[in-house]
Amino acid sequence: MGDVVLRMEHITRDFPGVRALDDVTLEARAGEVLILAGENGAGKSTLMKVLSGVWPASSFSGRILIRGEERRFASTHDAEAAGVAIIHQELNLIQDMSVGENIFLDRYFMRSFGIIDWDRVHMEAAKILERLRIGGIGTRDLVRTLSVGKQQMVEIAKALSLSASILVLDEPTSALTDREADDLFRILRALREQGVCMIYISHKLDEFERIGDRVQVLRDGKAVGDAEALSSVSLDRIIARMVNRDIREKYPKEPFAPGEVTLEVRNFEVDHPLLRNVKKVSGVSFDARKGEILGIAGLMGAGRTELVTGLFGGLPGAARGDVRIDGKPVAIRSPEDAIAAGMALVTEDRKLLGLILDFSIRTNITLSSLKAVSNALGVIDPMKDRGMAERFVTELGVRTPSVEAAANSLSGGNQQKVVIAKWLATESKILILDEPTRGVDVGAKVEIYRLMNDLVRRGVTVIMISSELPEIMGMSDRILVMCEGRLVAELKTAGATKEDVMDYATGNRTQEGFR
Ligand SMILES: Nc1ncnc2c1ncn2[C@@H]1O[C@H](COP(=O)(O)OP(=O)(O)OP(=O)(O)O)[C@@H](O)[C@H]1O
Ligand SMILES: [Mg+2]
Repeated sequence: MGDVVLRMEHITRDFPGVRALDDVTLEARAGEVLILAGENGAGKSTLMKVLSGVWPASSFSGRILIRGEERRFASTHDAEAAGVAIIHQELNLIQDMSVGENIFLDRYFMRSFGIIDWDRVHMEAAKILERLRIGGIGTRDLVRTLSVGKQQMVEIAKALSLSASILVLDEPTSALTDREADDLFRILRALREQGVCMIYISHKLDEFERIGDRVQVLRDGKAVGDAEALSSVSLDRIIARMVNRDIREKYPKEPFAPGEVTLEVRNFEVDHPLLRNVKKVSGVSFDARKGEILGIAGLMGAGRTELVTGLFGGLPGAARGDVRIDGKPVAIRSPEDAIAAGMALVTEDRKLLGLILDFSIRTNITLSSLKAVSNALGVIDPMKDRGMAERFVTELGVRTPSVEAAANSLSGGNQQKVVIAKWLATESKILILDEPTRGVDVGAKVEIYRLMNDLVRRGVTVIMISSELPEIMGMSDRILVMCEGRLVAELKTAGATKEDVMDYATGNRTQEGFR
């Protein structure tokens, strides 16, 4: 580990009604990965936005020193010029531009007369991808056609094209497959060798030890002690510092008695959005029961999201199959049809489909449940409306000064809690959760699991897609495994091992009766 390259001193940053950062001091060194840990809303992203010029120097108090020299950034451009690059929690690529254009956005190579040298743009972009050994991405591919994981890789390539000496990664693996995460870690280790200072934010505790050198914990906007070497501090101790209380049970699954079949799916298929004669999902048949949690496991890109989006009416014209709810055939052609039939879907992409970011937290939670908060004449009862929103905000521990605050004022994990609250509030018969705890901190995860328990106890059918094997194993009663658009296995969770699930998910094995 090298010299201290970054020192942030006494940083304080206020938002209306919230002190997001309260006198935080932090140091990071050349050639290290400093993990920044803390609950949702602890101030991690805000601290890194202060560092990277997203929040200009005039908006906070305190000092930033890079190699001992005080720097004041008015914009991200200033920070980039000083060698600070950030990969944000939410992807920031322009979907309808190519990979190469995105990597060199704002910094195109010019021929004379201001004409962009496109060949050079793509050539340089290809060099960066190659240096990172990122395969399977063409520099002329439209970003829109890439998986979320590949898009994340492009973000990283973009940050590295700036030859940053300080690189911030805000939950970079939340949408990556295990393979892609391995690739990322390989890249980060190489950068560590080259002396790059990296600050890494994550809610995945196993990553702390895999990639981190030291860890700094934030709680309620304050630094909890100084950074410590990961080799000398236990994960339990880090968790205790983050949440300031004991978390005993990570997966509070309760035994249940499955009831009758509520959802029957037969021969469901989803077309590929671009390629004819190719299916994203094919021949999928399964049942889901009242009062059970049905897990859907698989690798990223296995077709799980397409399956549930199709079932929910989100892919009109591209999805088809026989679907019955409570024994009756249903024709679901739009999300409205699905909601009317008693279904709800918590999507993995909260920015796109989950939240209306400019609206208040209250409106976001109650919008899909207007009936429940209206009086007999169909007029919204403000007391009920507010009451319902406040109940969920309290239950899930959403960190906000008021339910009237706009959804975009929340930290990433707290936005996820609001999406979940919105669908829990609809009191649907069938609740589908797509990666429900992505980006959610350890404490809030357990709250979400408890709510899932409450729901199954009340007879709701819960279907949960998750890429976290421990979560699938810990919370579901049965597990469906998908691989390349098909169901390849159905397992009772009791008696199944992680290795079994992985074997099926990676296509090593197919269960008898499938395929
Ligand atoms: N633009 C904003 N307007 C108002 N409040 C904000 C804004 N950005 C952040 N906050 C508030 O500042 C606090 C810290 O948020 P921040 O996004 O830094 O948390 P975080 O540690 O990154 O959490 P997560 O793990 O959920 O991403 C939160 O209470 C949040 O609501
Ligand atoms: Mg954050």
